[in-house]
Amino acid sequence: MTLRIQIMNQSLKRNLKMFLILAVSFYLCINVYAGEEIKRERPGKLFSPSKIPLLEDPARDKWQKPEEILNVLDIKKGQFVADIGAGSGYLTVKLSERVGAAGRVYATDIQQEMLDYINKRLNNKEVNNITLVLSNMDDPKLPAGSLDTAILLSTYHEIARPVDFIKKVKLALKPQGKLAVLEFSDDSPIGPPLQVRLPEDLVINELKQAGFSLLQRHTFLLPYQYFLIFAPSR
Ligand SMILES: C[S@@+](CC[C@H](N)C(=O)[O-])C[C@H]1O[C@@H](n2cnc3c(N)ncnc32)[C@H](O)[C@@H]1O
Repeated sequence: MTLRIQIMNQSLKRNLKMFLILAVSFYLCINVYAGEEIKRERPGKLFSPSKIPLLEDPARDKWQKPEEILNVLDIKKGQFVADIGAGSGYLTVKLSERVGAAGRVYATDIQQEMLDYINKRLNNKEVNNITLVLSNMDDPKLPAGSLDTAILLSTYHEIARPVDFIKKVKLALKPQGKLAVLEFSDDSPIGPPLQVRLPEDLVINELKQAGFSLLQRHTFLLPYQYFLIFAPSR
């Protein structure tokens, strides 16, 4: 009888030990996986102004297809739009031509050097419809309820706290306004390092949390980037 109890106790101890080993391994796996995800999602690094020539590469139009982007977004004369994370102003100047004198482009960036570059390129040009905005990491500093369209071209992955940031972008949109996010896909041969690229579904999920619904998903329109269009959820 005592022998049987002893054997039962030993087997119970073995099972308990095994259970603990499995539980700890599972916990460790989850955390290592989550750690990798966080590293992949948010690098906390800004695109350096020293790399502006990459943004202004004359070959860029061929794969970036800016006119197609603006057509899909139906950017028209008289509209108010924002180029959030404008960088060197590559898209800003194209938007400015599209919206014309009755429209306005808010070109925002958190690096003064980027805005200085845009300012310089606009010198001696008769352009009066661009407002340069020095924003900060958590606030796009855009006028409330003013925008038809806000565009984040290769910028979203640099935003440290995207859900809160995008909630503020939402406040700047008109009720029928749109928000576009373009980011390099994993299989693109050019773009930021793989670990800082963001999976499409992750971006869609974060935008949902910020109060947006997906309107259009263009995965193959551009060769290197996905292109998502959102509307504010009611
Ligand atoms: C990779 S560059 C892209 C520039 C431009 N959109 C283009 O495609 O040519 C990203 C830019 O976003 C800016 N940026 C990063 N976080 C930002 C934020 N929270 N608000 C505004 N700009 C931001 C960076 O300073 C940088 O100029």
